Amino acid sequence: MCTTKPFFDPLHLTELSFDALMEWLLSRSTTELVSLAQQVCAETYGNKVFLRGLIEFSNECLCDCLYCGIRKSNHKAQRYTLSDEEILETVKKGLSFGFKTFVLQSGEYRIELPERMARLLYQLRHITGEDVAFTLSCGVYPREVYREWKKAGANRYLLRFETSDESLFARLCPGKTLSKRLQALDDLKAEGYAVGSGFMVGLPGETVAIRLRNVLLCRELQLEMVGIGPFLPHPDTPLASESPLPIEETIRITALLRLLLPWANIPATTAAGSLHPQGREMMLAAGANVLMPNITPTEKKHHYLLYPNKICLDEDGWECLSCLSLRVASVGKEISFERGESILRDFSSPSFYFEKKPISH
Ligand code: 5AD
Ligand code: FES
Repeated sequence: MCTTKPFFDPLHLTELSFDALMEWLLSRSTTELVSLAQQVCAETYGNKVFLRGLIEFSNECLCDCLYCGIRKSNHKAQRYTLSDEEILETVKKGLSFGFKTFVLQSGEYRIELPERMARLLYQLRHITGEDVAFTLSCGVYPREVYREWKKAGANRYLLRFETSDESLFARLCPGKTLSKRLQALDDLKAEGYAVGSGFMVGLPGETVAIRLRNVLLCRELQLEMVGIGPFLPHPDTPLASESPLPIEETIRITALLRLLLPWANIPATTAAGSLHPQGREMMLAAGANVLMPNITPTEKKHHYLLYPNKICLDEDGWECLSCLSLRVASVGKEISFERGESILRDFSSPSFYFEKKPISH
């Protein structure tokens, strides 16, 4: 592994001004971007694709984001919350299949969650020992809550910023602000989490410049994990009549992410697979190196519908495993059951490879 600074910006893209970077991006074909990203991904993660077992443990949500199928105003959504026993059983089953990372995801702002989650994490840790990583994805909470959850055994946290554009964020997420979200990401980092964030590609009102700023914000935040996926209009939301961008746009942005954040763990997301039958394979070929099979009990899976036409709802998460290994093989990669830390963790001094100067916007 090369440890010199240019490796972390292999194409020296951060030396370009915002406008020059935009011009560079627009003048590259998708094939070119994908091929560059493929090389960088091969140098960092080889042909490995890390697996995370995703457990969508509750679709209760107090937020009303315009794009989201489980927003509180969608009274058609059938609400559920898994019991502690159901979560423990799912994790135990996952362990028996070899999973070393579990992602516990839910809607936001549940008053009772902080205590419950801490209790659950202690129980989970008791079963798994230190070998396994737990990632939480439950939204914005006060820093003290993040601290308790960390103490109880959480390792990583996913909280997408959704868009880097403040006014677009405010329009799409009533009652929330981008700055609070960024503060939460700071808090998580300060509490010692491996932090992941990300955004949707093609939100209504998004421009190419916003998309590029989304990627640059991911670099500035020094994220260890970046989750992106196409925006998909849900029929029971105010954005029902909008259209998604073609999958190609998500693929181009995946490639750019890999070029600007060579160290990041980047999942090939279910949203990409839902927009295009080969969406996940295309993302893997463009530099993604993680898959998150949904191991939520099948009878509950149907109710966690952030967007329509979600794939793998009828398949048991365990059935997806064999399907996924074929899909991964089709792009010359291989499933790995390792815990799969970001390579960022392998270095002692983070300041070594980040130029503090952000790209001028
Ligand atoms: N289309 C695509 N992705 C969505 N998400 C929420 N709603 C949609 C949608 N309609 C994404 C958000 C959220 C993640 C869990 O799912 O980025 O952070
Ligand atoms: Fe779920 Fe193929 S990955 S059915």
